[in-house]
Amino acid sequence: MSTDAIVLLKEDHKEVRRLFREFEGAEWNATEVKADLVSRIVEALTVHTYIENEVMYPAVREHVPALEQDVLESYEEHHVADLLCAELDVMTPDDERFDAKTTVLIETVGHHIEEEENDWFPKVRDALGRNKELQEIGARMLEARATAPHRPAHPSSFKKAAEALLR
Ligand SMILES: [Fe+2]
Ligand SMILES: [Fe+2]
Repeated sequence: MSTDAIVLLKEDHKEVRRLFREFEGAEWNATEVKADLVSRIVEALTVHTYIENEVMYPAVREHVPALEQDVLESYEEHHVADLLCAELDVMTPDDERFDAKTTVLIETVGHHIEEEENDWFPKVRDALGRNKELQEIGARMLEARATAPHRPAHPSSFKKAAEALLR
């Protein structure tokens, strides 16, 4: 099985986009369905941004210094997503801001994923090719996934939020 880091991250993106579309297609009054979808979106994003923050982004900074600014911008976009996820995690669909906040999360993360996939992942691919480096980064991401936080209230999620401020 390939552990190519970019392939693995794109698989995550595909799943996240699928959940986004399901939310957008849900009936406005389908509160249980929407609560369940947002819970799954928050979980998927909490794990995904964690493994990017902990493994992918530091590796890209190390191996492709030209992408430094793109990586820093991406950390900030993760931070915004983290805040929205933490807020949504303690809300219910009957809150008047629930749909609005979810829509902003979908727009923000949608833009972020597009930048990763269209803008700077291709530059990582150009720099590193399909060689061992990206396989090795992917293998480390799979390891990190095994111990990644799944909810925003998990202590290692707080660590991530604090680092975004203190870095
Ligand atoms: Fe990201
Ligand atoms: Fe991503």
